Amino acid sequence: MKKLRNAGIIGTGSCLPDKIVTNQDMEKIVDTTDEWVKTRTGISERRMTDENTATSDLATVAASRALENAGLGPEEIDLILVATVTPDVMFPSTACIVQDNIGAINAAAFDLEAACSGFLYGLAVAENFIKTGYYKNVLVIGAETLTKLVDFTDRNTCVLFGDGAGAAIVSEVPEGYGILSSYIGADGKGGKLLTVPAGGSRIPSSVESVLNRLHYVKMDGKEVFKFAVKIMGDAAEKALEKCGLDKEDIDFLIPHQANRRIIDASIKRLKMPNEKVYINLDKYGNMSSASVAVAIDEASRKGLLKDGDTIVLVGFGGGLTWGSAVLKWKSIGRD
Ligand code: UT7
Repeated sequence: MKKLRNAGIIGTGSCLPDKIVTNQDMEKIVDTTDEWVKTRTGISERRMTDENTATSDLATVAASRALENAGLGPEEIDLILVATVTPDVMFPSTACIVQDNIGAINAAAFDLEAACSGFLYGLAVAENFIKTGYYKNVLVIGAETLTKLVDFTDRNTCVLFGDGAGAAIVSEVPEGYGILSSYIGADGKGGKLLTVPAGGSRIPSSVESVLNRLHYVKMDGKEVFKFAVKIMGDAAEKALEKCGLDKEDIDFLIPHQANRRIIDASIKRLKMPNEKVYINLDKYGNMSSASVAVAIDEASRKGLLKDGDTIVLVGFGGGLTWGSAVLKWKSIGRD
């Protein structure tokens, strides 16, 4: 059998909209308090796109920054994967729009939908395209403009989400480095816990669907919370087991940024010290598929990820879905 290649991240980038919406700003929009949001979620502020900015705009900037970081030209990209639940339009895919924007003329392009686990799903797909030698360079993007899909009259959801995009380029890396294992899973039975009911083929957009606010995010927060607390630990442990490592081997943890209490439960179960866990949800809220992607880029640029570190990425989301990966970090092609 032909030997599989080693796939790893060789460049990252991210893009956040400039506009900051604080909890105090939210107090003026909906019946909430800074104190409630901070203590129940850990979020202090989030970023919000303006009316002229769509998901592909953030994704394009994040992608350009990742290319620059990896030292690659757009024509060297073979595949663009955009993980998003907030595409610009139903079709064409956001990935095709990004392909055109960055001039990745040799790339195939498609969107991937696994809600907040989307970037981890994308990473697993990219890993396998690289391992088999099918492609040389895959651009994986997690990009969302969730503030356009939340109902600003629903305090249960509108305080939680924010906009942003993160990108990573996955390519061949030296033996012993890169993605040591990845694990993705789903449980469609829990689909109704987190959904946007209208705008698809089940309930097409209509005056009635809009009047009934069915085009907005609906969530059973309590049930998603219970699922999240269990699956974050389970998924991280599964990925570690797949590559023969243990919790004690983790140098750095990058979890999905949905709720500080969910992250704290994972920290406890994985026995991680706080300073070895990347947290940015206080500044950005939950950016769904962009959360882990932006966190990797920030952690990398801040120099928190060292050569040879064992890094665990883990997330969960609507679907229900979950994903995790273990990386042996190698800073190739970085500035
Ligand atoms: O990426 C995946 C996406 N989703 C998630 O990860 C969400 C997971 N779930 C959560 O993070 C938490 O369940 C929430 C933050 C959504 C809610 O926290 P909770 O501790 O589960 O609160 P709760 O739903 O039990 O609500 C407690 C109370 C309720 O009032 P009553 O019925 O007890 O009078 C809510 O109406 O808090 C009320 N509440 C609020 N109060 C002030 C809910 N949202 C707010 C708010 N401000 N924004």
